[in-house]
Amino acid sequence: MDLLTVKNLTVTLATGRGDAAAVRDLSFTVGHGEFLGIAGESGSGKTMTALSLLGLLPHKGRATGSINFDGREILTSSKREYRDLRGKEIAMIFQDPMTSLHPMLTVEVQLTEHLRHHRKVSKDAARQSALELLSTVKIPDPEAALRAHPSQFSGGMRQRIAIAMALACEPKLLIADEPTTALDVTVQAGILKLLHQLRKERNLSVMVITHDLGVLSSLTDRIMIMYAGSEVETGLTSDLLQRPRHPYTKGLIAALPGHTNDAKSSQTKRLLSIEGMPPELGNFPSGCAFHTRCNYAIAACKSELPESIQISDSHRIFCPVDPFSAKASIEGAK
Ligand SMILES: Nc1ncnc2c1ncn2[C@@H]1O[C@H](COP(=O)(O)OP(=O)(O)OP(=O)(O)O)[C@@H](O)[C@H]1O
Ligand SMILES: [Mg+2]
Repeated sequence: MDLLTVKNLTVTLATGRGDAAAVRDLSFTVGHGEFLGIAGESGSGKTMTALSLLGLLPHKGRATGSINFDGREILTSSKREYRDLRGKEIAMIFQDPMTSLHPMLTVEVQLTEHLRHHRKVSKDAARQSALELLSTVKIPDPEAALRAHPSQFSGGMRQRIAIAMALACEPKLLIADEPTTALDVTVQAGILKLLHQLRKERNLSVMVITHDLGVLSSLTDRIMIMYAGSEVETGLTSDLLQRPRHPYTKGLIAALPGHTNDAKSSQTKRLLSIEGMPPELGNFPSGCAFHTRCNYAIAACKSELPESIQISDSHRIFCPVDPFSAKASIEGAK
């Protein structure tokens, strides 16, 4: 059984024009020790998906469907149950590490209090654990780091401290929402490598959310692509990146820096970049929301919600046209 099984998750938010679904009928799993990437342009509902797992939706936000975590339904949890779950079983790190760190308190105070709150250990034992955690996240001088305030560290080091805080209670699932977006490329690579190592060493399940598909290529086991609150494609990382089947995924990959396109493939060339902007919440197009930007859309795409097409056991798309299938290329060549 998977650690996390989300079924038909719909998240409704209050907007100026009334309630609107920011996440729509989303179903996915994260296995024990699995690394799942979630990617999609801004506003596709990635953060709302993560926040719904933690019971942290914005005021007036509502989630329906089912979230089974470690064998139990958590979507119906009380505030108190969610509080217990957060930190203890599911931890989250954010783009800005200061979201989970206090600028005025030393790292020692924050880490040890956090550890003592959750693990009920002595002060000395908590200090020892804090030192170990800081070396786990590869902070160069853990003793000196304990005495410092988070504001004294660089962005990359602060994110490592936030990861140490997240790990303090030995969560089963770590959710990272754009953990490296604010960092420069080399620092970013270090943090991603660390997440990769942690998942291996601790059999931790990890969910990384990003709008930059490139970030996920060497890290994840599987990737789910979202558009306008819905899944458009999910597959093993290598399948999805090398043989994307949804026009949106194909466009995202073609737009990655350094991506070279097969000059012979006119299908790929047509999608070098995805024109237009993602739709705003409350204004999602009917049918397949991507149809307004898709070169392959047919009449049905405008009116019918796409159903999932299983390409293999681990790969599926939501596209009735499936323009990059072998069958479609044979028909195109005729
Ligand atoms: N508190 C809120 N109230 C109403 N709408 C909101 C609220 N927070 C976010 N939204 C809207 O919900 C939609 C989904 O937002 P979400 O933050 O999940 O997107 P995202 O995929 O994480 O995007 P990004 O890559 O920009 O972080 C967006 O259209 C956003 O404008
Ligand atoms: Mg987000």
